[in-house]
Amino acid sequence: MLGNFTYCNPTRLYFGEDSLQFLKGELAKYGPVVQLIYGGGSIKKNGIYDQVIAILADCGKTVVEDAGVMPNPTVEKLYEGVKIARENKVDLLLAVGGGSVCDYAKAVSVSIRCEEDPWEKYYLREEEPDCEIVPVGCVLTMVGTGSEMNGGAVITNHAQKRKIGHVFGDEVFPKFTILNPLFTYTLPKYQMVAGIYDIFSHISEQYFSGEDDNTSDYVMEGLYRSLVHSSRIAFRDPENYEARSNIMWTATWALNTMVAKGKATDWMVHMLGQSVGAYTDATHGMTLAAVSLPYYRHILPYGLKKFVRFAQNVWGVSPEGKTDEAIAKEGLAAMEAWMRELGLVMKISDLGATKEMLEGIADGVFLLSGGYKQLSREDVLQILRESM
Ligand code: NZQ
Ligand code: ZN
Repeated sequence: MLGNFTYCNPTRLYFGEDSLQFLKGELAKYGPVVQLIYGGGSIKKNGIYDQVIAILADCGKTVVEDAGVMPNPTVEKLYEGVKIARENKVDLLLAVGGGSVCDYAKAVSVSIRCEEDPWEKYYLREEEPDCEIVPVGCVLTMVGTGSEMNGGAVITNHAQKRKIGHVFGDEVFPKFTILNPLFTYTLPKYQMVAGIYDIFSHISEQYFSGEDDNTSDYVMEGLYRSLVHSSRIAFRDPENYEARSNIMWTATWALNTMVAKGKATDWMVHMLGQSVGAYTDATHGMTLAAVSLPYYRHILPYGLKKFVRFAQNVWGVSPEGKTDEAIAKEGLAAMEAWMRELGLVMKISDLGATKEMLEGIADGVFLLSGGYKQLSREDVLQILRESM
């Protein structure tokens, strides 16, 4: 392993079909006013809302509702949440939903006592919080982002056509998260597979970097294989608890910062996907799926050894009698076949991106340097064109 690092993950997890019972003990640690944050209403339809409200009432909490967090939460919604929190002097932000709801809660948590504009400070200027942070807890209902155990908070500004993620430090991680695989059963299949691809992409963004022999790469090969295996079962049988619980746990490990340690990490698929998202407001996992193969084919010659290892260790490609290039390409072909099996969106044009948008999307792509090739704006445009 190369590099020097610090590792700390302060989020306490409660996992399994009985995990909601632990919410009561967590709530006891915080003051009386809870801002209950949720999305467009799925938790009301599937009964999770009623279960959470009953526990909050049992604990004697004053509940302040903050509903309507949209997928890809906006800066306007962030300002609204901050206003609710300030007016009610809330003690805890309880997010019940997917990555959007958890991300939003974290963005609110660092903005309540912040005297500056949070979009400008945290997203445009990428500064760290220097104010008191209100604690966040999560009850996760959609699997994919890893937001349940990390400091990420992605916010979209439609007026500026920017979707930007800030990865905050461990003081912003949720203090606790309830992970109940049963809560994910009501997810529409489109969201389930988008989340599965989001997990796959998080692993890839970290796996495809570095040349050294690194423990994290072996861990990630295991995560990849478990994910591909369980995804096939969950696709056929969405109520298969074993598969859904494995997918939920894999999502957490794919982006709870551990496997990134000692790695340069790439993240260009996310930079491309986020800019597509800023223009189309499409589902996050699908934006990643649509740009991935053109991106990986583009960088394959620069990271050939790793693509060979990926083909053999993740997809079981036999190397016999083949050149490294042929093995690597067969690995990407196996990945493509799996993506098509799940019905993932393979083109950004199928998500609403048009030819006229491509220059603007390219302008919104942050060019990072941790992967196998530092992309130029021309590379970005070429990848976007190949994703149409
Ligand atoms: O809003 P409701 O009605 O709850 O419906 C949601 C939403 O429409 C629905 N849903 C969630 N749980 C459900 C359910 N429907 C039925 N049953 C359930 N149990 O699913 C839809 C999508 O939810 P959302 O939270 O938007 O999805 P996801 O978890 O994929 O989060 C996406 C956001 O997270 C960011 C993305 O950019 C995007 O803004 N990310 C956060 C990251 C992080 N914190 O580290 C990293 C990721 O790469 C990602 O960028
Ligand atoms: Zn992602």
